[in-house]
This record gives sequence, C-alpha cells and structure tokens, in this order.
Amino acid sequence: MIVTVGNTKGGVGKTTIAVNLAIARALAGRDVWLIDGDRQGTAQTAISIRSEAGHAPGIACATYPDGPTLRAQVQQQAAKFDDIIIDAGGRDSTALRAALVLSDVLLVPFQPRSYDVWALNDIAALVDEARSVRDGLRCFAVLNCADPGEHSTDNTEAAAAVADVPQFEYLPAPLRRRKAFANAAGAGLSVLELKPQDSKASDELKALVSALF
Ligand SMILES: Nc1ncnc2c1ncn2[C@@H]1O[C@H](COP(=O)(O)OP(=O)(O)OP(=O)(O)O)[C@@H](O)[C@H]1O
Ligand SMILES: [Mg+2]
Repeated sequence: MIVTVGNTKGGVGKTTIAVNLAIARALAGRDVWLIDGDRQGTAQTAISIRSEAGHAPGIACATYPDGPTLRAQVQQQAAKFDDIIIDAGGRDSTALRAALVLSDVLLVPFQPRSYDVWALNDIAALVDEARSVRDGLRCFAVLNCADPGEHSTDNTEAAAAVADVPQFEYLPAPLRRRKAFANAAGAGLSVLELKPQDSKASDELKALVSALF
C-alpha cells in the first residue's frame, strides 16, 4: 500500500508520523520504503541516524523532492515493496502532487487548533485535483499533538470540524502530545522501540497502524 503523509501546512507532525509508520510496518515484517519528498530531508536524516546507530530493521529510504523524479522512481520500484510511506513536505509542491496521484491513502495530520482545521480546506483542493486524474485515493485526517486530556473539548471540536471538509474522513486514532514521539523520531526510532517504553504512545501508534492498514 502506498501512503502519503501530507499537509500543505508545516510542522503538523508529518515526518514524525511517517518515520513511526515506516518503522512500525518494518517491525511487523513488511518490506518498507520510506520516501522523503521534502528538500529539508528530515525523514532521511532520522533514518541515517538509525542506520549509523545500527538499529534493526534497517529502513530503505530515499529523498525525491522533485515531483517527476518521485513519480518515476515509485513507478519503477513499487513492486519491490509491501508498503511505501511518503513524507511530502509542508507546502504545495510537485512532490506532494506527484505523491497524491500515486497513493492509495493520504493521511493528513492536523493539530487541534483553528489554523490547522482551516488548512484542511487547502489540501482538500489538491485532493480534488488528484482525484480528477485517478480514482481511489482515500483521505484521512488524523489528530496529532492532541491534548493529553481524555475529554479535551479542543480535540472533540477539531474532530467534528473534519465533517465540514467532505474530502476527508476523520480517523479516530489520535496521537497525543507526548515527548516519546519527539524523542523517538529524533533518534531514528519508532516509539515502539524506545527504552523505557511510553506505553501510551506505543498504544496510540499501534491503533493508528491498525486503523490505516
Ligand atoms: N505527537 C507528538 N507529540 C510531541 N511532539 C510532537 C508530536 N508530533 C510531532 N512532534 C514534534 O513537533 C515538531 C514538528 O513535527 P514534524 O517535524 O514531524 O512536523 P512536519 O509536519 O514534518 O514539519 P515540516 O512541515 O517542517 O516538515 C517536531 O519537533 C516533533 O518532534
Ligand atoms: Mg517534515
């Protein structure tokens, strides 16, 4: 399955989620390819740190910030992998547009804040374009950095706001604001591999993986 983690808004947690998803699927025995579509190369850096530290499983990772190259490479190599996770950069780019046309699923992380909810309309326009070229792109919005309180009204309101953007389905598998997510991705690890483990973060990631795949 090809999954793009994308949002035209920056800093919503795309790279954190893409790295965690890729590693979680690799730990489950899948052949995974992580593509960094952002010229900042943050996902690629996380994977380099992982491989220099000798963590297994290794994750195949490539950086294609240019849309036509991303498209050609994915078309050539897709059959070799079970799952391809694409981290598309935090703005409208040729890489994001190419990724949308290739993907089975677009996962849009957003934070429970007004600006993030408004930004869903921005990427919804790109979804319409991608769907005009190719059928079958499923789009999910997922809360990231959700408030840790179980009954936060911000979280509930943000989730309800997704209903106003018909291009998206709300995926009820939020990741909450936890140091474990930031620490793990910075060390090239998923939260499943952190020692000591943050079991709440691990459970949230597992819930997201099973909701998606
Ligand atoms: N669930 C979370 N809990 C705590 N911190 C988080 C969480 N998700 C992301 N972060 C932190 O928020 C910051 C932004 O995350 P990240 O770099 O993944 O976003 P991004 O959407 O890829 O940004 P960009 O648009 O710049 O590529 C990072 O410092 C990251 O460690
Ligand atoms: Mg990023």
